[in-house]
Amino acid sequence: LRPPRLAGKQIVITAGPTFEPIDPVRFLGNHSSGKMGFALAAAAVDAGATVTLISGPVNLSTPKGVTRIDVTTATQMYSQAMQCIEACHIFIGCAAVADYRVAQPASQKHKKNSQPLSLSLIENPDIIAAVASAEHRPAMVIGFAAETENLATYAKTKLKTKKLDMIAANLVAQGKVFGSDQNALQVYWPDGERQLPLAPKTRLAQDLMDLITEHYHAKDTT
Ligand code: C5P
Repeated sequence: LRPPRLAGKQIVITAGPTFEPIDPVRFLGNHSSGKMGFALAAAAVDAGATVTLISGPVNLSTPKGVTRIDVTTATQMYSQAMQCIEACHIFIGCAAVADYRVAQPASQKHKKNSQPLSLSLIENPDIIAAVASAEHRPAMVIGFAAETENLATYAKTKLKTKKLDMIAANLVAQGKVFGSDQNALQVYWPDGERQLPLAPKTRLAQDLMDLITEHYHAKDTT
């Protein structure tokens, strides 16, 4: 049994995709099962933390002991995240947030008319960057980076530009990660890195939570 090293600590985790409505029956979204975020929430509860899970639309049951807030869009996820951060010690952005939303979703279903359909898109807020730059910033902010190439370069750039304390990166698009029960992660922080080899997401989540806990205790003396 693992000692409750995060007793008394509040952890907020975003998970799953966001869906951005096009009309009442269609949406824009990303591939994401939510499994990694939910596994992290379970691992955080095991470590003794108080856990809030802000989840996009997924087909997963809530891990025991977790407070779950369901959202659909990036805008909703952003506002829930900003409401949670004041009392938060560790924030983990695991959600696959849609980068854009439709400027004016149609109130009725679009009908096909053999013409090209144009959608005007607006960039969504970067939730984790906003959390990491907030006045009451959690002591640790951890992001994810799913990349199809140049994993290290892209991940390290995101670590810096989003002002994160740690980023967990993985290669996607070999048909392996989305919805899969296994994954491998390359974890970067400003002056180090660690490889977490291919393992079930539940195990990987425990290993990542151990790494986060180590860094949290090294950084935070309160
Ligand atoms: O820039 P990119 O989407 O690759 O960054 C991924 C990281 O940023 C993840 O931690 C994801 O949860 C977070 N993110 C976010 N809000 C966005 C886009 C990404 O929190 N609008």
